[in-house]
Amino acid sequence: MKALVVGASGQIGAMTVRDLVDRYRADVVAADLNLEKVKDVARATNPNLVTPIRLNAMDEKAMSKALKGVDVVLNSAWYELNMKIMTAAIKAGVHYTDLGGFYDGTLKQLKLNKKAVDAGITCVLGIGSTPGITNVCGAAGANKLDSVDNISIYCTWGTKKKATEAAMPAYSIRTVIDEMTQEPGIVDKGKKMKVPVLSGETSVTMPEPSGKVIAYYIKHSEPATMADYIGKGTKHVSFRIGFPEVDFATFKTLAELGFGSEKKLSIGGGKCSPKDFITAMYTDAVSSARHSTEVVDEYDYLRTDVTGKKDGLPARCTLFVRTWNDRKTGLSSARDTAVPPSITADWLAKGKVDKTGVLPPEACLDPEPFFKELGKRKILVDEELQVSSKFY
Ligand SMILES: NC(=O)c1ccc[n+]([C@@H]2O[C@H](COP(=O)([O-])OP(=O)(O)OC[C@H]3O[C@@H](n4cnc5c(N)ncnc54)[C@H](OP(=O)(O)O)[C@@H]3O)[C@@H](O)[C@H]2O)c1
Repeated sequence: MKALVVGASGQIGAMTVRDLVDRYRADVVAADLNLEKVKDVARATNPNLVTPIRLNAMDEKAMSKALKGVDVVLNSAWYELNMKIMTAAIKAGVHYTDLGGFYDGTLKQLKLNKKAVDAGITCVLGIGSTPGITNVCGAAGANKLDSVDNISIYCTWGTKKKATEAAMPAYSIRTVIDEMTQEPGIVDKGKKMKVPVLSGETSVTMPEPSGKVIAYYIKHSEPATMADYIGKGTKHVSFRIGFPEVDFATFKTLAELGFGSEKKLSIGGGKCSPKDFITAMYTDAVSSARHSTEVVDEYDYLRTDVTGKKDGLPARCTLFVRTWNDRKTGLSSARDTAVPPSITADWLAKGKVDKTGVLPPEACLDPEPFFKELGKRKILVDEELQVSSKFY
């Protein structure tokens, strides 16, 4: 397989490059704005299989040149670029994956379905951990039931040692700040609607050592697609995040201070928005942290509850996804996001995805083989089915 990874030196992209090479011996073109950073990624994986290039995904000509001879493009750059990169992929007739369109973007991307069908390609939207694995979990749970009423998704993470210092996000600070400031979408009584950010407070039990966490609605793309593509009468879909205490305090403070603003301010003779400033600041901090040899016992947990009916009686299927960090393959919260696009790219290149068009993961990825592939990377999926009985 020849794969083009865009945003290949990012926290997620760099790990996807590694999985493509380690698992599939893929021929990878690692593309990013900064050539030196992708050269580092190539050196750290396999310089014989990874070709670093400088690429600005916003440059149409450069994108179309980079897409020549490629089987799949894996978009690991910021979600704001999805539409541009997906449009280029459709034009070039190249299969496509991304890490999520942040609800509104996903709805826009789905409108290009016919163009992708006509091009004979598949664009798999939001195939990371969440969105991504959670969408496939929703489909797996629904497969066990005759009808579905509610799909509730939860996510949390943490470390064995309780952290006290300010938090470092495991994914793009831009997305984190957007999550803390933009209205989430949910499906309620069969209708898509927006609700206030950080509303819907609820307590949910996650695997130990996390235990009970308080979770809130934040903007995510699962509710944009799951009721429509899973069907079976699904009336409610929501995504809630259970922040560890320190992370909640750090990110909420940054959001309240206005770091989500895109308004350009004059600083030292130049102009920069608070959001671009904090992106650059964290990118620098994350690159330095990547060279640290310290190993933290860090975990990432996902929970998807699908409730409905089986044989006329109430039933629930819960899927837990557990990932721990690994000395060789890196932090859990980045690994469980970086691996799904790599598996999907392999399936797309081998013709194992039999649908074309612009599709969310629940519509085109077969859950069981997908979970088995995750298991090979120590991303563990457990399924619990509870079916009621009546004896009267
Ligand atoms: N589905 C999920 O489970 C999930 C989980 C986590 C994250 N995400 C999403 O994944 C995306 C990437 O996250 P991340 O943590 O890897 O972010 P990141 O570390 O900031 O990486 C993004 C990369 O994209 C590059 N980039 C930005 N603009 C570009 C352009 N015009 N052309 C080419 N490359 C460009 C950046 O380059 P520079 O640094 O040089 O600017 C950076 O290397 C985010 O949108 C995030 O929301 C999804």
